[in-house]
Amino acid sequence: MTIQAITQPTAQLSNSQLMLADLEKVLITEEQIEERVKELAKEISNLYDPDEEITVISIINGAILFTADLVRNLPGQVRIDCIRVSSYEDETSPVNGPKISSTLTLDLANRHVLLVDDIIDTGNTISKVYQYVLDMDPASIRTAVLLEKKARRKVAFEIDLVGFQIPDEFVVGYGLDYAQRYRNLRCIGVLKTEQQQGN
Ligand code: IMP
Ligand code: MG
Repeated sequence: MTIQAITQPTAQLSNSQLMLADLEKVLITEEQIEERVKELAKEISNLYDPDEEITVISIINGAILFTADLVRNLPGQVRIDCIRVSSYEDETSPVNGPKISSTLTLDLANRHVLLVDDIIDTGNTISKVYQYVLDMDPASIRTAVLLEKKARRKVAFEIDLVGFQIPDEFVVGYGLDYAQRYRNLRCIGVLKTEQQQGN
């Protein structure tokens, strides 16, 4: 497609009404996410010296979208790696403890690591990855999550940077899924209960 071919206003390119119809309510709008991610990036860059390189570890798949937007708002040099952790099958509550199913490729010794996840719920996932990274002798580890559900915390773990506190509801969108769907929704919303049964 040539640049001249894009003649539609951006509103017409936003998420489909079909996905939005599966939501009971929108909790955080696309605009609120965008604004908060920019603020978080500022808060993060204030934590590091201007010449310090940050190694961003994204906990995939959930943190893909958040990480992509966050790193593009960071001013300095950034290295990116991903770690895959699975704890949720196709259900809305954890079945087993988290499992690291795909590990890192970058060496983290003496590096400044920023762990990024979409949401902290029980705390099991991020605390497991934190310990895993700590064993690689980084110079520092900081943590950033877009969402925090304080109500369901099982592991005592303090996150350095939190985007939004949310109530104890199952949310989808902006990377967060239900049965691997809704990750591409631009806002974050609560899925209707009837959508949480069938796949
Ligand atoms: P934790 O290990 O219980 O803290 O859960 C963290 C992981 O569970 C996150 O990385 C998410 O992938 C997933 N998760 C927790 N709550 C939700 C939710 O409301 N919607 C979608 N995924 C969630
Ligand atoms: Mg996740």
